[in-house]
Amino acid sequence: MGIVRESNSSVTAAATDPHRTGQGPADPAEIAELRRIAVHLAQTAAAHVRARRPEVFGDGESAQDAVQAKSSPTDPVTVVDTEAEQLIRRLLAELRPGERVLGEEGGGSLGDDSQVVWVVDPIDGTVNFMYGIPAYAVSVAAMRGGRSLAGAVADVAGGHTYSAGLGAGATRTDRGGTAITLRCNEVGTVGMALLATGFGYGATRRARQGQLIAELLPHVRDIRRIGSAALDLCMVAAGLVDAHYEHGLNTWDWAAGALIAAEAGARVVLPPAGTISKTGELVVASAPDIADELLELLDRLGVSEPIPES
Ligand code: IPD
Ligand code: CA
Repeated sequence: MGIVRESNSSVTAAATDPHRTGQGPADPAEIAELRRIAVHLAQTAAAHVRARRPEVFGDGESAQDAVQAKSSPTDPVTVVDTEAEQLIRRLLAELRPGERVLGEEGGGSLGDDSQVVWVVDPIDGTVNFMYGIPAYAVSVAAMRGGRSLAGAVADVAGGHTYSAGLGAGATRTDRGGTAITLRCNEVGTVGMALLATGFGYGATRRARQGQLIAELLPHVRDIRRIGSAALDLCMVAAGLVDAHYEHGLNTWDWAAGALIAAEAGARVVLPPAGTISKTGELVVASAPDIADELLELLDRLGVSEPIPES
């Protein structure tokens, strides 16, 4: 089975027809307001995460109590992930009372097609956060009908905020408030492309992901494993890498970043919103001029196949 390219890709379809949603036209003023709120939430939570890191990981003893395992012993959640999500939920209850939230730590659901749902990853790149590797982010998206309408990814250590609105483009704003419009790289051929990818937390899927990396590596310039899928997708938008692919992401990992990539011109292939990680479906975001070649290569090497977690 090859990659489903357009038909079940919520962001790709949206990018080709920016004013269409599952429930009729999306209002540009509404999208702008959702984007403003997503930015506010992501930046506020990022400030909390930044302030808490030295408090929680400043001495080894308190850090032990601050981390618990989730889906596997190597899949961590820290007290700061939980606090940041609770902060976002509290702010949303004030700013958008009654709207749904789907969060990595607190759960929830996407609701029906008429409702806005806020999809939250309070720290994407939790392992980097624990170790102090400066690549972790807060990701907030507003979705409706399985489609991202607006999203923001706040790079906690870098101090940048990436954001996008459906049909309204993508930007990166620095600490001083200066914003630049994002566009993907022009790269020409897959052989000169820098790819970013990531690994799941389960051993079986990782073994297969490692085999596929070995297949892909001779065909590309190089591969990076940065440790935050949300940032990888923003890096495609900013031209810091040429493409990202990963199996088994959760909706909160890509809900904001995939919109940001698509609005910067990327070709994006996604499973339907709400697809669970266990099914192991593939997410791809590619600079547009290599997208056909990359998707064909992924098909040929078997990368397009899902890698379910047993
Ligand atoms: C993880 C990161 C990582 C990706 C994993 C994700 P988390 O998210 O995005 O880059 O490879 O698949 O689970 O656990 O740090 O929120
Ligand atoms: Ca997370």
